Amino acid sequence: MTKTGRKPAFAVCLTCKSTQVPQTIVNMGDAYYSAPFKEVAATMTESIGCSDCHNPADMSLRITRPALREAFQRMGKDIDKVSHQEMRTLVCAQCHVEYYFEKDTKKLRFPWDKGTDPEQVYAYSQEIGFSDWTHADTGNAMVKAQHPDYEMSMGGVHQTAGLSCADCHMPFIVEGNVKYTSHWMTSPLKHMEEACTVCHRRGVEELKARVFYTQDRVKEALDRAGWANAKVIKALVAAKNNPRADQAKLQRAMALQREAQWYWDWVSAANDMGFHNPQKALSTLSKSIDLAQEAYAKVAEALGVPEPQLSREEAKERPAPQNQ
Ligand code: HEC
Ligand code: HEC
Ligand code: HEC
Ligand code: HEC
Repeated sequence: MTKTGRKPAFAVCLTCKSTQVPQTIVNMGDAYYSAPFKEVAATMTESIGCSDCHNPADMSLRITRPALREAFQRMGKDIDKVSHQEMRTLVCAQCHVEYYFEKDTKKLRFPWDKGTDPEQVYAYSQEIGFSDWTHADTGNAMVKAQHPDYEMSMGGVHQTAGLSCADCHMPFIVEGNVKYTSHWMTSPLKHMEEACTVCHRRGVEELKARVFYTQDRVKEALDRAGWANAKVIKALVAAKNNPRADQAKLQRAMALQREAQWYWDWVSAANDMGFHNPQKALSTLSKSIDLAQEAYAKVAEALGVPEPQLSREEAKERPAPQNQ
C-alpha cells in the first residue's frame, strides 16, 4: 500500500509507459492487463519509443495500443481508414485520454461508448455503475478523471480548423538546410515561432499573452469549482452523523456531489489548463459549480434547515483571487 492508499498495481498501468508493451500484449494476450505490475515491469527496460507511433518497416504512423482501436470500433469507426492528418492526432490519443479498467479482467478500456464529452463519459459510468474510489470522509463512490487531452481538444477552435496535436506539439524545425519534425514533446510555448506563426501573424508575445489570459480565467473557474465541491463535502460530513438528517435526501446530495466533482476533475486532469478548448473547459466547470450548489441545497433540505450549519472557517468558500 502506498502513502496515497493506492493498492498494489496491475501490469495495465504500464500500457502507456514502455515501447515493449504492444509485443507483451501479443505474447500474453489479455492476461497481460491483470498480471502483477512488478513482475511485468521487471521485463521492461525501455521507455516510450519510436515503434509506439511508427511502423519500423516504413516509418509510417501506426496505432499500437488495442484500447484505442477497440474504442473506435465500438463507436462504429474504422481507425485504419482515417486520414494522415487524423493519425497525427490519434498516435497521441493512444495515451492522452480518459480510461478505466474493466472490473475483473483489468483490461484497459476508453469510456467513449456514448461519446467523448465529459457528460457522455459520465453517463456511460452511470450506466455501468462504475466508480474508481471511495471518498474517505463522505463514503461517496467517486469517478476519477485521467488526462482527457484528446477529448478536451475535440470541438475546440484548432481541432475544428483541422489542426492535429503534432501541428503544435511537433512543428517542423529548420536547422541549416535540414527540415525535420520536432520530437520534443513539450509545451508549444517553447517553440511558438515554429508552431504558431504560420497562422498567427501578430507576434509571439501577443499570442502568448492570449494563451495566459485564457488559462488564468480557466484556473479561476477551476478553483471556484474546487471550493464549491469542498464546501459540499464538509456539509455532507457534518450531516452524516446528524440523527435528524433525512437519509434519502442525503443520498441524493451524494449523487449530485459525485457528478459535480467529476466535472471539476475532468478539467483539472487535462494538462492544458483550458487552452485546447476554453469553451468546453468553462462550460464543464459551470456544471460542476451548479451541481455542487444543488447538492449543498439538498444537504440543507435533508437537515430541514435553510443552510447547513458550518463554522465560519468551514464555510469559507475560496481564497482571495490571485490573478486580477
Ligand atoms: C508519440 C509518437 C511518436 C514517437 C514516439 C516518435 N515519433 Fe517520429 N513522428 C511522429 C509524428 C506524428 C510524425 C509526423 C509524421 C507525418 O506527418 O507523416 C513523425 C515523423 C517522423 C519522421 C519523418 C521525418 C521528419 O522529420 O518529418 C521520422 C524519420 C521520425 N518521426 C523518426 C522517429 C524516431 C527515430 C523515433 C524514436 C526515436 C520517433 N520518430 C518517435 C510521431 C512519433
Ligand atoms: C505511449 C504513450 C504516449 C504516447 C503515444 C504519447 N504520450 Fe505524451 N506523455 C506520455 C506520458 C506517460 C507522459 C508523462 C511523462 C512524465 O510525466 O514524465 C507524457 C507527457 C507529455 C507531455 C508533457 C511533457 C512535459 O513537458 O512535461 C506532452 C506535451 C505530451 N506528452 C505530448 C504528446 C503528443 C503531442 C503526443 C502525440 C504526438 C504524445 N504525447 C504521445 C505518454 C504518451
Ligand atoms: C493549437 C495548438 C495545439 C494543439 C492543436 C494541441 N495543443 Fe496541446 N497545448 C498547446 C498549448 C499552447 C498548451 C499549453 C502549454 C503551456 O501551458 O505551457 C498545450 C498543452 C498541452 C499539454 C500539457 C503540456 C505541459 O507542458 O504540461 C499536453 C500533454 C498536450 N497539450 C497534449 C495535446 C494533445 C494530445 C493534443 C491533440 C489531441 C494537443 N495537445 C493539441 C497547444 C496545442
Ligand atoms: C493552422 C493554423 C493555426 C495554427 C498553426 C495555430 N492556430 Fe491558433 N487559431 C487558429 C484559428 C483558425 C483560430 C480561430 C480564431 C481566428 O480565426 O483567429 C485560432 C485561435 C487561437 C486563439 C484564440 C482562441 C480564443 O478563443 O481566445 C489562441 C489563443 C490561439 N489560436 C493560440 C495558438 C497557439 C499558441 C498556437 C501555437 C502553439 C496556435 N494558435 C497555432 C489557427 C491556428
